Amino acid sequence: MYSATKMQWLAVMMCLYAGVASARTEEDQASATNGNGISGALPEQCFYQLSSECPPQDPGECPCKRIILSHDSPEAQAVLCCNLDSQTFESGLSCANFPANVTYVHIRNATLDTFNASEVRWRRLKSLAITDGKINHVKGQFLMMTPTLCLNLSNNALVEVENNSFTRLAHLTTLDLSYNNLTHLPALNTMNGREFWLDISGTNTLWCHDIYQYINKTGEKQINFNRENETVCSASKTWHWFNATEQVPLKQVRYLSLLQTECPKGEAWQCQCNFRRLDIVKGKQPTLAVNVDCSGIQLTELPEKLPRNTIALNVSYNNITVLDDLSTNPCYQDIREFYADYNNISSINKLEGSKFLDNYALLSLRYNKIKSLPTYILSPNARDKNFGSSRLVKLGGNQLHCDCNTAKYLKVWLQTRILDSDEVLCENVKEKVVDLEPSKMCVYPGDWTDYIYYIIATEVILLISLVAKVSYDYWVFKTAGYLPWPANKMPKLPCDWLCET
Ligand SMILES: *[C@@H]1O[C@H](CO)[C@@H](O)[C@H](O)[C@H]1NC(C)=O
Ligand SMILES: *[C@@H]1O[C@H](CO)[C@@H](O)[C@H](O)[C@H]1NC(C)=O
Ligand SMILES: *[C@@H]1O[C@H](CO)[C@@H](O)[C@H](O)[C@H]1NC(C)=O
Ligand SMILES: *[C@@H]1O[C@H](CO)[C@@H](O)[C@H](O)[C@H]1NC(C)=O
Ligand SMILES: *[C@@H]1O[C@H](CO)[C@@H](O)[C@H](O)[C@H]1NC(C)=O
Ligand SMILES: *[C@@H]1O[C@H](CO)[C@@H](O)[C@H](O)[C@H]1NC(C)=O
Ligand SMILES: *[C@@H]1O[C@H](CO)[C@@H](O)[C@H](O)[C@H]1NC(C)=O
Ligand SMILES: *[C@@H]1O[C@H](CO)[C@@H](O)[C@H](O)[C@H]1NC(C)=O
Ligand SMILES: *[C@@H]1O[C@H](CO)[C@@H](O)[C@H](O)[C@H]1NC(C)=O
Ligand SMILES: *[C@@H]1O[C@H](CO)[C@@H](O)[C@H](O)[C@H]1NC(C)=O
Ligand SMILES: *[C@@H]1O[C@H](CO)[C@@H](O)[C@H](O)[C@H]1NC(C)=O
Ligand SMILES: *[C@@H]1O[C@H](CO)[C@@H](O)[C@H](O)[C@H]1NC(C)=O
Repeated sequence: MYSATKMQWLAVMMCLYAGVASARTEEDQASATNGNGISGALPEQCFYQLSSECPPQDPGECPCKRIILSHDSPEAQAVLCCNLDSQTFESGLSCANFPANVTYVHIRNATLDTFNASEVRWRRLKSLAITDGKINHVKGQFLMMTPTLCLNLSNNALVEVENNSFTRLAHLTTLDLSYNNLTHLPALNTMNGREFWLDISGTNTLWCHDIYQYINKTGEKQINFNRENETVCSASKTWHWFNATEQVPLKQVRYLSLLQTECPKGEAWQCQCNFRRLDIVKGKQPTLAVNVDCSGIQLTELPEKLPRNTIALNVSYNNITVLDDLSTNPCYQDIREFYADYNNISSINKLEGSKFLDNYALLSLRYNKIKSLPTYILSPNARDKNFGSSRLVKLGGNQLHCDCNTAKYLKVWLQTRILDSDEVLCENVKEKVVDLEPSKMCVYPGDWTDYIYYIIATEVILLISLVAKVSYDYWVFKTAGYLPWPANKMPKLPCDWLCET
């Protein structure tokens, strides 16, 4: 008893934890980083200068300038360029004597059609920021051994980065692609388990599918998202989880992968969890609805833990005997559709007064061991007058204990409330409940009364024959003067003298 309540408490705590842990972005980030042993540190900033630092914009002036960061290491200098376009790009960089001794670059407000990543001049940079301009494409591939740690391409209205552009940046830890118009995320080099920060906030056109593959897959691909709670991605019709082109918060995409870890499993069994739909209510965060399929895995009891937002559970073809969790386990509170066909369930009494019965849309307990149906449990109560009719119940294949009441009342109730009422059987009579005839089933009380009638009838017949015999004797006596048998053999009774007089 004690251990049972303890287990229940544990289950509650696990559910709550699962709920809380992913309900909020901060926790998501914490668990993402803690789970991998990566420190929760913030991403490094790329070398960055405000526009007020830009060189004066006079004709003839170099649009780029050198910035000495430290006199101790003259090889590690920085360059800031402003307002370059395709004509001034080359001349601007060369008037600052780029790339000699330059390790850090910030190019502001560049107007270019294509940024060529293959060029040798980017080969020694530790930090490259090309921000707040207008660049349509990034083409080519950064060269092998490029030591870049931080790459900022924020706010450029980029529409395309070639898939393999960044794959050789084996030291990159911070990539800022925020506020662009990308639809595809280029392949990221996340090898060697290093920390990787990606900022795609404001780039709302990115397909969620491209991002999903980097969320909590194998350790190699694990990345952190900067400004995660401000990041959304686009869900396409072709991505089966979301049946609409919608902007999905990254948090929800992250939950897709969490879902697989929350999906119930045991030593020898594993349920399948999937998204049924994304509920989008204007002005609210979209929420996901989860389907859990635990059918045919030899369960003997309902799973203790379910993912959050589980609205449909299929535990058909198992050996489940009781439905207690459905009414007591908080993990089950969102369930609207419950399928437990082909199990060993013998009673629905435990569902009485449960929250499940207040909310359910479908309850299917076909081919179980249910023998009696307390109809009041499944009858709509006062609260859901409107809903009552939309609730579906299936009980076909169960063998009820049938009696007169079954034939008279339950039959009618089944026909009005149960979807497959014509498949509900009797265990004691070889008939379907809907075929029961009250006149046949209700014979037990009739039996006894009939017996009385037989006695009365016999008595009446006896009385009539007695009267007839006496009348006959009297007639014979009057006409022939003797008494027929047996009256003549009868001894004289004391009262006989009354007749003789
Ligand atoms: C990542 O996956 C591991 C197991 O694969 C899981 O324990 C952890 O909770 C997941 N974290 C996130 C944030 O998805
Ligand atoms: C990239 O540049 C933007 C300005 O457009 C700035 O806000 C952001 O902090 C920079 N990101 C990094 C990682 O330096
Ligand atoms: C680069 O640094 C070296 C010293 O390390 C110095 O001799 C050289 O002049 C510098 N070149 C430029 C262009 O600053
Ligand atoms: C950006 O550069 C263009 C020239 O390439 C210039 O006309 C424009 O004023 C610049 N914008 C800002 C905000 O400096
Ligand atoms: C990029 O630069 C490389 C090396 O300089 C060159 O071979 C290639 O043609 C350039 N690509 C584009 C698209 O300009
Ligand atoms: C991008 O590259 C990765 C691996 O380098 C590959 O798995 C992926 O399919 C590529 N995507 C596209 C769109 O080519
Ligand atoms: C990029 O997206 C912004 C809105 O996010 C839009 O105003 C702008 O026109 C887009 N630019 C291009 C080139 O598609
Ligand atoms: C996003 O998260 C940060 C903390 O990580 C918080 O300060 C901020 O208010 C959140 N923004 C939104 C829109 O929830
Ligand atoms: C997705 O939407 C299409 C058309 O809007 C519909 O035919 C299809 O049944 C939907 N699929 C799901 C899984 O809801
Ligand atoms: C439940 O699982 C069984 C066995 O896999 C399957 O036949 C049935 O269609 C499932 N029910 C629903 C509603 O998905
Ligand atoms: C149910 O349990 C019995 C024995 O306990 C076993 O023979 C049978 O295969 C099980 N059925 C299912 C569907 O797991
Ligand atoms: C389920 O019921 C069948 C038939 O009544 C029985 O053979 C089987 O042992 C039961 N399984 C369990 C796990 O109770």
